[in-house]
Amino acid sequence: MKVPVNVLILAAGLGTRMKSSQAKVLHKIGSRPLIAHVLRTAARLNPENIFVVVGHQAGKVEEAARASIAPADADKLRFVMQTEQRGTGHAVKCAAGALKDARGLLVVFYGDTPAVKAETLRKLIAEHERAGNAATLVTVRIDPPPAYGRIVRNAQGDFLKIVEERDCSPEERAITEVNPGLYCFDIPALLDALERLSPHNAQNEYYLTDVPQHMLDDSLRVGTVFHEDAHELDGINTRAELAAMWKRLRYETIDRLMANGVTIVDPDSTYIDDSVEIGRDTVIHPQVIIEGDSRIGANCEIRSWSHLINAEIGDECKILNSCVIVSSKLVARNIVGPFAHLRLHAELAEDAVVGNFVEIKKSRLGRKTKSMHLTYLGDATIGDRVNIGAATVTCNYDGRQKNPTVIEDDVKIGSDTMLVAPVRVGRGSMTGAGSVVTKDVPPDSLVAGVPAQVKKKLKE
Ligand code: UD1
Ligand code: CA
Repeated sequence: MKVPVNVLILAAGLGTRMKSSQAKVLHKIGSRPLIAHVLRTAARLNPENIFVVVGHQAGKVEEAARASIAPADADKLRFVMQTEQRGTGHAVKCAAGALKDARGLLVVFYGDTPAVKAETLRKLIAEHERAGNAATLVTVRIDPPPAYGRIVRNAQGDFLKIVEERDCSPEERAITEVNPGLYCFDIPALLDALERLSPHNAQNEYYLTDVPQHMLDDSLRVGTVFHEDAHELDGINTRAELAAMWKRLRYETIDRLMANGVTIVDPDSTYIDDSVEIGRDTVIHPQVIIEGDSRIGANCEIRSWSHLINAEIGDECKILNSCVIVSSKLVARNIVGPFAHLRLHAELAEDAVVGNFVEIKKSRLGRKTKSMHLTYLGDATIGDRVNIGAATVTCNYDGRQKNPTVIEDDVKIGSDTMLVAPVRVGRGSMTGAGSVVTKDVPPDSLVAGVPAQVKKKLKE
């Protein structure tokens, strides 16, 4: 049996250097806040509990955390309040009550480190268990060293202590092996050591980084794991670091997609969230943005300046220049744009085509249906093989509520038709150019005029 894993994320700080009215962990990389990135990494360890220490804007941080966690992991989240920020050791101590009931080991890291990989934490856990340590910490080498805690070792190379930069002697300050802030602890040993922390240091804070030294004093084992890629573990403190990290994560996603067979014409100008999946031989042109839980099939083409958010795009679709597609679905072989806007659950069945300056909201277009120019379709259900003429409008809002329009199969809507909802156009019918349709149209009829009247039957 493997030892159960628990994770604790420190996210109580404000992040003064962000110069923001928003807590640091709420700042976004891609479409998700920093806290969402670290929670996803935490969840990948399949932990029993994920403790999050909150303080500044606790309500908003909790809300962001709950919104970002997968439903299956939601019951693992435990929030711990740290009303006053008296240091990282104090923050963990605030969780002591909750930790007493946790089984197994505890991984601790900071909420502002969005690039940390689950693999790195697994390596930390594996070494912790192999060595039978009370505490294990990740170390990295950065030369010249940043304002991180320094790793002090004895002549034999054994770990002795972490010294915060502000508490360093000149010799300690020169040490290039530093603490990126990822720890694994035996829970009872941690709780014991936390009791003995004192704030007698340059910042008058309770340092989590003093815990290993207390454990060594008690003859417990403390070990380290060296990590080659120091920047993966970077914490974000400033807007400039936020932008640099965004760029790093952006390239990770783009490299993954290219490795899977996606053509990205200009990686420098392409923004794709790490949550996005794209199929083989799809081509993404310059200056495209794809966000959220978007899924794009194989053999698609997405032309420049299009922006997709939570879009579901089937195989062999073409999205031409400057389209905006939000929370909408293209089933297969659809062509959209240029300059089309699909939103709020618009859905195009196979081979449906939407052209220039067409907006579609909460509507479904059936197979091979076309709406090519200057049109608004809202709250509409449209059948197969329908042609919607230029400048058609579903007048779905009567000033009080939204009303539905139904257009059955094989209908031809003439240019500049106003469909005053609620209204239904029967199968096989036509509307004349400039019609204002205020009443249901029976099947196989030609209607025209203002208001539209039946002019003739198209079939006997
Ligand atoms: C910490 C480490 C340092 C390490 C560095 C890596 C300590 C004492 N030092 O320093 O060795 O090199 O991270 O980035 O741990 N926080 C709370 N409550 C508090 C204080 C902090 O939740 O009372 C949270 C912050 O929101 C932040 C994280 O803990 O996410 C780190 O705190 P910060 O003050 O930035 O520590 P550093 O000085 O960076
Ligand atoms: Ca920091």
